[in-house]
Amino acid sequence: MLKSIEWKGNYLIIVDQTKLPEKLEYVELHTVTDVYNAIVEMKLRGAPLIGVAAAYGVLLGVLEGRNPYMVIEQLKKSRPTAVNLFKALDEMQEVIDEGGDLDEIEAKAREIEAREVEASEKIGEAGLAVVPDNARILTICNTGVFATPGIGTALAVVYRAHETGKLSKVYSLETRPVLQGARLTVFELMENGVDVTMVVDSMAGILMSKGMVDLVIVGADRVAKNGDFANKIGTLNLAVLANHFGIPFYTALPTSTIDLNINSGDEIPIEERDEEEVKRVGECYITRKDAKALNYAFDVTPHELVTGYISEKGILKPPFKDNR
Ligand code: MRU
Repeated sequence: MLKSIEWKGNYLIIVDQTKLPEKLEYVELHTVTDVYNAIVEMKLRGAPLIGVAAAYGVLLGVLEGRNPYMVIEQLKKSRPTAVNLFKALDEMQEVIDEGGDLDEIEAKAREIEAREVEASEKIGEAGLAVVPDNARILTICNTGVFATPGIGTALAVVYRAHETGKLSKVYSLETRPVLQGARLTVFELMENGVDVTMVVDSMAGILMSKGMVDLVIVGADRVAKNGDFANKIGTLNLAVLANHFGIPFYTALPTSTIDLNINSGDEIPIEERDEEEVKRVGECYITRKDAKALNYAFDVTPHELVTGYISEKGILKPPFKDNR
């Protein structure tokens, strides 16, 4: 399966996700600033992938001879919501605090990546238990090879269900405004022979009302101790709809996405992005140039609406206590 990130010994190579689906283009990241810009510009995105890239970013900073603490501070400012970024940087900082040499810093970044790759495999396996036969799964955003260094989270379950003959089809919400569903999820599922149908975000309701969805599985960017979780904008709508229609609603995540420092979703910082992103599709304005627009990148789904949390440690129920 395609890999969206690879450490090459002294630089990182990533898929530039902004170019998909037109071009599968790789870009080299040689400096911390390259990594920082790639995260900010969403050349790479997805909670676990951001964390892994940031870990290698620290290593690049050390190779550049920069002060690692300043490097960590810079990377922490790239995006606010996905906790994996902060946890990966904290782990890197621990090695630096202990006076780790270059080999130890590299080993830690590789360890964080390997852990995520393994978590993806196990999430896929654990998720099989909740997938009915001939399942029609609805998902949002991209939670596959472009969101993790492995096969993904929600899409890991999709891949395993496909391999074992349990999957009928996937409905991928387009995921306005950045279109991770339309551009990335559809791309990778088609590459891997999975039957996928793209639908606009506002179609989720009618699909559920017509009995066309058996299961909703989404990813997560930060899960609070009580189980409230942030994920791509539109996830909350899906949770409310799924509950209304009695459809199981799962989130799939590595436990690295659980933030034990916060009690509930109220404490999750929600990224607000430039209004230009929603006022345009590509270069083309879809509203008046002087119109006001609001662009929250994530929403928070309350734990009451979640059927279960598919993780590398099995299907979890909150409250969460120890995630390592
Ligand atoms: O803004 P993005 O594309 O980084 O948002 C990503 C998501 O919301 C994903 O669902 C989440 O990171 C889980 S990915 C395994």
